[in-house]
Amino acid sequence: MESHDVDYVVRGAKEILENMRNAVIGYDEEIKYILISLLANGHVLLEGVPGVAKTTMARSLTRLLGLNETEIVELNGVPYKGFSRIQFTPDLMPSDIIGSLIYNPKTLDFEPRLGPIFAYIVLADEINRATPRTQSAMLQAMQEREVTIGDKTYPLEDRARNKFFFVLATQNPIEQEGTYPLPEAQLDRFLMRIIIGYPESLEEEKEILRLHSRRLREPLEELEPVVEPEWVVKSQEIVAEKIVVPEDMLDYTARLVRATRPEIMEPVSKYFELGLSPRAGIALMKAAKAHAAVRGADAVEPVDINAVFYPVANHRVVPNMETIIEYGGTASARMRVIKEGLEFVLKNTPG
Ligand SMILES: Nc1ncnc2c1ncn2[C@@H]1O[C@H](COP(=O)(O)OP(=O)(O)O)[C@@H](O)[C@H]1O
Ligand SMILES: [Mg+2]
Repeated sequence: MESHDVDYVVRGAKEILENMRNAVIGYDEEIKYILISLLANGHVLLEGVPGVAKTTMARSLTRLLGLNETEIVELNGVPYKGFSRIQFTPDLMPSDIIGSLIYNPKTLDFEPRLGPIFAYIVLADEINRATPRTQSAMLQAMQEREVTIGDKTYPLEDRARNKFFFVLATQNPIEQEGTYPLPEAQLDRFLMRIIIGYPESLEEEKEILRLHSRRLREPLEELEPVVEPEWVVKSQEIVAEKIVVPEDMLDYTARLVRATRPEIMEPVSKYFELGLSPRAGIALMKAAKAHAAVRGADAVEPVDINAVFYPVANHRVVPNMETIIEYGGTASARMRVIKEGLEFVLKNTPG
């Protein structure tokens, strides 16, 4: 392959990651995972308590990609917004996301009203607050990358016109009353679940205060575009078509996936009731390819697979209930079981 391909990906990725620092303090790894998901053409679920910059990350990325909330791009007669934020609430209906037909008394006819999903980047905020019916409409559209309104089907992704489609969903880890946690079977529509914790140190906490101390506006509003939407579409194609997965890395990926399954690896049953599916294996491989591209490599190595293993796998395993209870039975005990289980798998699978 020609090295300028991967250089093109690296150049844009560097600019994005560096400039993101002007609006978001810390979270270098987490932001890199978001970018890797985008480049692997997958969607992400950001999980964290309110106020830890989840929305800020989504809006900053949008601006750096040269998109915005108000501009509308019309492609083949279909208008798309640069960015849509959909606040999920218990009364949100599928048609509030996708759109519907509305009656126009002047023409005596029904006309399509396109919903907020018609955007390059969609922030599905607090997705676990909507009902399962609305969640599945969203997840189905994410998977199919097209929606049907009336008898017409519209693309959400249009690669020939440099239109990509990327969903960032957020959810609160604490299962509050009136929330509907996404079922495991639907969670795997997200390439990665990225846990957004609290800032790592006192220094970071102060840095956040400093950033906001002499400003009226949000710092992200000062971000300038560093790439164009075309960079995303081209980079996704370079990742998919040019980054090589050598035979021994296929083998390693397959062995890792199998090592999460209690029926194959008895000792892992302490952590997992259900391990990873072949679909999860494909996700792992695709994310590893994007990781390789971002670090400027044209072939996947163990470091790429290991780096994305946790964010790709953590929402796709079913942790062992007894061990969760042994660890205290809380939401954080659940995450601890998953983390220890995945670390156990990595440690016991030679690269
Ligand atoms: N790590 C951080 N770096 C910069 N600003 C932050 C950080 N964490 C929180 N903030 C600020 O706190 C506010 C809340 O952030 P927001 O993105 O709305 O959080 P969330 O979506 O997670 O609820 C924003 O003004 C944001 O700029
Ligand atoms: Mg938010």
